[in-house]
Amino acid sequence: MTAPIVPATDTAISRAVEILAGGGLVSMPTETVYGLACDAANPKAVAQLYAAKGRPIFNPLIAHVADQAMAAREGVFNTEALALAASGWPGPLTLVTPFAATGTVCDLARAGLPSIALRVPGHPIAHALLESFRRPLVAPSANPSGKISPTTAQHVASDMGDKLDLILDGGPCRIGVESTIVSCLQDPPVILRHGAFDASAYQTGAPNEEKPLAPGGMSRHYAPNATLRLNVTAPISGDAYLGFGPVDAPRGRVTANLSETGDLVEAAANLFAILRKLDRTWARIAVAPIPMSGLGLAINDRLARAAKRD
Ligand code: TXA
Ligand code: MG
Repeated sequence: MTAPIVPATDTAISRAVEILAGGGLVSMPTETVYGLACDAANPKAVAQLYAAKGRPIFNPLIAHVADQAMAAREGVFNTEALALAASGWPGPLTLVTPFAATGTVCDLARAGLPSIALRVPGHPIAHALLESFRRPLVAPSANPSGKISPTTAQHVASDMGDKLDLILDGGPCRIGVESTIVSCLQDPPVILRHGAFDASAYQTGAPNEEKPLAPGGMSRHYAPNATLRLNVTAPISGDAYLGFGPVDAPRGRVTANLSETGDLVEAAANLFAILRKLDRTWARIAVAPIPMSGLGLAINDRLARAAKRD
């Protein structure tokens, strides 16, 4: 049976809280992507969530909380972490901190790590759900592990509708790429994943295949069925050409455009929906160059992993 998609009325939020309290799975919109949420303190629910996503259990989840007070029960915040939280929450920022002695998020959700990833989402529906539930919700993106993330309720329904109990509809996600992850386990903090929170004051954590800083950050991800080529200025016959900005290609050769005006914010918001659409009819997708600045870092990161073959 496919989970119903419901507008996030007060009644629907109460229903979602009941489902979560009973160990069920609910998809909630956030400003980045749709999440697949369950009670972070319930190992049985978390095990079901890993199974529903087909996610390896060594890849820990982000615990979503309503506010800094709830975050402070789960994580240990040093001065840097407090400053980052103050500037980025609520919003598209996830902070990795040491796990607090008072923390309630179960071991399985943290993949047994002594640290925890925490986020206060800015989306009103996610916020309302967290306020009503009053405990942390772990929520990975609501897609099968390794596939393209969902930015609409319909994406969630078509990818995993039969594996969850309820989908709260919040329309298309405003940002469209996952949160920036900053690890505060070292001084100074390091960026583990680029996103819409501007963390350019910090360095990107050195990739280390032996011991990845963000365990889910290394492998092929966001993967369409089509093969993807990046930084293509001259598409060849049989390619879907995904443009960015005013593309100088022969008429009719641009299949879709992330942003005709070259706006990176618009491009990020369109990215996953357009990839899904092209993937339905094309076997090869060639993507125009995207500048490596601002949100372009996050877009290029997602595209590079989507293009990876292993
Ligand atoms: O925007 C987002 O962050 C979305 C929405 C739903 O909130 N969530 C999301 O979750 O992208 P997910 O599970 O797809 O990505 C979580 C990332 C993974 O790469 C994981 O390895 C990393 O966070 N992570 C979780 N706990 C960690 C920890 N203790 N240390 C380092 N990385 C961690
Ligand atoms: Mg994901």
